[in-house]
Amino acid sequence: MKKGWKKGLAFLGAAAALMVVLAGCSSGKKDNSVKKIQDKKTIVVGTSADYAPFEFPIVKNGQKQVVGYDMLIAQKIADNLGVKLKIENTEFPSLISELKNNKIDMILAGMVSTNQRKKAVAFSKSYYTVKNVLLVQKKDADKYNTVASVKGQQIGAQQTTTQEQIAKNQLKGSNVVTEGVLTSLTTELSQGKLAGVVVENEIADNYLREFPNKYAVAKVKLTTPKDQRSVNVAVRKSDKALLKRINKVITKLQKDGEMTKLFKQAQDLQAKYGTK
Ligand code: ARG
Repeated sequence: MKKGWKKGLAFLGAAAALMVVLAGCSSGKKDNSVKKIQDKKTIVVGTSADYAPFEFPIVKNGQKQVVGYDMLIAQKIADNLGVKLKIENTEFPSLISELKNNKIDMILAGMVSTNQRKKAVAFSKSYYTVKNVLLVQKKDADKYNTVASVKGQQIGAQQTTTQEQIAKNQLKGSNVVTEGVLTSLTTELSQGKLAGVVVENEIADNYLREFPNKYAVAKVKLTTPKDQRSVNVAVRKSDKALLKRINKVITKLQKDGEMTKLFKQAQDLQAKYGTK
């Protein structure tokens, strides 16, 4: 009887060990996404450089380039893989299809991991948290305090972003105007063609810092749905090994406190080289 028990336990133990091994295999060890990138010696990041301090164009030593917080993180990912970073700058609305069509290997574009996007791509762990506000002209700082006060007004939001949904769902009665490039909307705001633009808080902060006499944040309260708050790297769903590496890099940057430094570094770059 006793012996039988022992045998049974040993069998269960072996079965459990086998299951652990099998689980290890199915969690992406066989996918060759990392090897593919290392073979071509380059990782291509897709972004939309209209989003300082996350990604924006500068002219340095007479050369145009795209820099920012996301690009600094992307560079860390490339370094970890031992490959070069190539930046593919495109409009935000086409990023997910470019990823699916293998034009890019990952997206870093201040992109939040909405439930809807999760159906199409895989997201890394979060590296930043955002909420939404209405950016207005400074002279209108106290004009738009309620949803009712925005009624009938032209409100901008970047196409296919969470800002578009928030503007349409929450600023009822306003006319929502969308563009593929965010900076077109903020230009229209500064020209008085739009009453406001829905943006994330850190983007608004950035405009206020750069142009303190031009813009303000309106008092009207916007709600940022839970699945629209965390900014993540996106990769193809099949690229499990790559995703694992990216998560490792993010965890390390967060533990070191370096993630916060990179954000500051991006702001400094903008102050120094950004186009006014
Ligand atoms: N966080 C918002 C979203 O994911 C907007 C991101 C826009 N990014 C950009 N680079 N323009 O929908």
